Amino acid sequence: MAMNSLCLVVLMMISTGLALSVPDLEAVSNEVPDGGKLWAVLVAGSMGYFNYRHQADVCHAYQILSRHGIPDENIVVMMFDDIAYNTMNPTPGKIINRPNGTNVYTGVPRDYTEDDNTPENFLSVLKGEKPTSGSGKVLGSNENDHVFVYFADHGAPGLLGFGNSILKADALIDTLQEMSEKKRYKKLVFYVEACESGSMFQNLLPDSWNIYATTASNATTSSYACYYDTDYQTFLGDVYSVKWLEDTDRENVAKETFEKQFKIVKNQTTTSEVCQFGTLDFVNDHLADFFGNKNTAPDEDAWDGFPDTCGADAVESHMVPMVSLQNRLVEAQGQEEADEIQKEMNELSARWDTIRSTVQTIVNSLVENDDDFHHVWSGTPEISERECYYAAIDTFHEQCYNLGQESFAMRLVFTFANFCEMGYKTQDIVAAIEAECAAPPQPKITLV
Ligand SMILES: *[C@@H]1O[C@H](CO)[C@@H](O)[C@H](O)[C@H]1NC(C)=O
Ligand SMILES: *[C@@H]1O[C@H](CO)[C@@H](O)[C@H](O)[C@H]1NC(C)=O
Ligand SMILES: *[C@@H]1O[C@H](CO)[C@@H](O)[C@H](O)[C@H]1NC(C)=O
Repeated sequence: MAMNSLCLVVLMMISTGLALSVPDLEAVSNEVPDGGKLWAVLVAGSMGYFNYRHQADVCHAYQILSRHGIPDENIVVMMFDDIAYNTMNPTPGKIINRPNGTNVYTGVPRDYTEDDNTPENFLSVLKGEKPTSGSGKVLGSNENDHVFVYFADHGAPGLLGFGNSILKADALIDTLQEMSEKKRYKKLVFYVEACESGSMFQNLLPDSWNIYATTASNATTSSYACYYDTDYQTFLGDVYSVKWLEDTDRENVAKETFEKQFKIVKNQTTTSEVCQFGTLDFVNDHLADFFGNKNTAPDEDAWDGFPDTCGADAVESHMVPMVSLQNRLVEAQGQEEADEIQKEMNELSARWDTIRSTVQTIVNSLVENDDDFHHVWSGTPEISERECYYAAIDTFHEQCYNLGQESFAMRLVFTFANFCEMGYKTQDIVAAIEAECAAPPQPKITLV
């Protein structure tokens, strides 16, 4: 509304011959060159202090868009919001995205937090359908507008973690198709940080939808965390995310293109294979065409020459809780604290053993011969038997382990995909999972 009325004033001034100079930059800061508006949806799916980095990445993304002039009304932020005031946070009310970094939590809109941070609400926000919970803010975009979507959490083949739940590639793709058909954008850019994030788009995103996506990893490999901080006792960022966020801070957004950013991020992300999907028709658009065209010069406050060490200490995303505990053990003050940390490590290790053994039992109860056994464990296939795979995922998620919260369990679901691809029957796979998990609920440890 505010933007519309500003533009109207400028137009009136021009038409009455009063404005002879270039219109105030403020007035055009949320506009696309061809007259549309800029919108963004920023999502951190995870919760828990050990997942600090996803919310830090998302808050940093908000600072970039806000600095470049996109108004809060046009930025939807979804995050659990349990980091800033977490008892583990040594600087209450402050979140950083790199060692000694600036506070990226300032001013972040909290549209969908805690139990409102759900895949259903995310898809509604994209479709412009007001959810019944949370702030109710949704994309109000139309066929002239540019939309930027950024997501950070754990992932697995064909799915993303999302709060206590999961978002399947097929549900996301259906929503993007609907947005495309209903002309809810002119161009859409989608960045995803997650393990196996390439599997959200590979062979699923037609060029004709005018969507350009980049992902932290390809369809079969992990993504990585970086910037372990001994004061914060956690990883402050994810490699691919930190690379694009810091690159944006360092560059003039009116001059750098998406293609250039992709090349830089891909080159600097040495831990995983950064991929691009969808149309490449507008990769020569400038970052400002999606991130906002105000204050286009490099951000010297956010980027103060700090050495780019993200990646040097990178660990696979699902290993983060264990590596964080190992790092805390090294820094422990006295025996009592060391014992406490060791106890947590033992519990986590036992939990992972339980999950691994559940999957092993399911595999062993299904597998028909040695060749199949080797094949099941040989790696992540491309998923073509999608109904079979998602039926297995749903059963495992509902009856065995909450995939939204157990990133270690996500590392093992590729075995179900292999059964489906080998032609094992959906009902047999589902029955094997049910049989193993029908036992009384497993003890659940709580990570801070
Ligand atoms: C953070 O700042 C402190 C104080 O200026 C300095 O001693 C420390 O080396 C800095 N840490 C990093 C990782 O740059
Ligand atoms: C994914 O990346 C890994 C590591 O670079 C590579 O070995 C694998 O072949 C890639 N998979 C696909 C499907 O591109
Ligand atoms: C990629 O990074 C290396 C250093 O890590 C640098 O020497 C090289 O010039 C970079 N290549 C591109 C295309 O940016």
